[in-house]
Amino acid sequence: MTDEPTPPAVTYGTYLKIEELLSLQQPRSAGPEHDEMLFIVIHQIYELWFKELLHEFDRAGQLLQRNESHRAQHTLKRILTILKVMVAQLDILETMTPLEFTSFRARLDAASGFQSDQFRQIEFVLGLKSEQAIQRFPQNSRPRTALERRYHEPTLWDAFLRYLAREGYDVPQAQLARDVHERVEPSNDLQRILVTVYTRDPKNAELCERLVDLDEGIQEWRYRHVKMVERTIGDKAGTGGSTGAGYLRGTVGRPIFPDLWEIRSQL
Ligand code: HEM
Repeated sequence: MTDEPTPPAVTYGTYLKIEELLSLQQPRSAGPEHDEMLFIVIHQIYELWFKELLHEFDRAGQLLQRNESHRAQHTLKRILTILKVMVAQLDILETMTPLEFTSFRARLDAASGFQSDQFRQIEFVLGLKSEQAIQRFPQNSRPRTALERRYHEPTLWDAFLRYLAREGYDVPQAQLARDVHERVEPSNDLQRILVTVYTRDPKNAELCERLVDLDEGIQEWRYRHVKMVERTIGDKAGTGGSTGAGYLRGTVGRPIFPDLWEIRSQL
């Protein structure tokens, strides 16, 4: 009888793959320039938060589908807490002066957060979908496959509308069967229902408020990002090929769930 070798005990380092993780920050500038490390680390941290957000959005959608609204709210609370941390993290990058950034910016070539597929996936989950965003990635690549899947999936708003219908609300059929590829457009019929939710149904009004928090949280991130861009590169064009701050300003302030904002003046 041969003794099976005992597998090595799991340690902090092996469980979290610390060696691999710490080998992933590779500055490109000569020297390298001191601030490039911060730039790489913070972007990698954002990508990890994006990954966690997507994980939680999937969960929130499933919980709504199972009518577990209390748990869905709990998940949304977690998402909002992560978003707050993400917005706060921009403070760290704002300690980098324009000259410090210029010292290595040329080494980024055409790299830009504009190419973050996970950020686009989050936009897709929230109903901001675009075929163009998919086509930027090569066929059969991980980003493209993930974006294609999310492009065809119902958005968080769709999951919410279907949940409301199961709660007994007379959500218009046109809304329940809306094209999930399209952006959410305001609907007067739906707004009438949402006003009833707010005035008579505290449980679901709370859920609506968490969606408003989410909408505001994403807008807050966009606003803080564009301010950081303005103070770091002014009106220079972006490395990703856009006009830079001008392009980004156009994405700020447009609500994701317009009906939830429209009803404010009716309450
Ligand atoms: C010094 C720091 C930064 C500067 C100067 C900067 C600049 C820009 C610019 C100019 C754009 C427009 C697209 C283009 O490149 O042409 C952009 C887009 C974007 N950036 Fe940044 N960025 C910075 C930090 C970050 C960080 C830390 C993240 C976190 C992941 C990030 C994520 C994004 C995303 C997701 C977009 C696409 C936004 C959209 O299309 O709505 N950026 N950035």
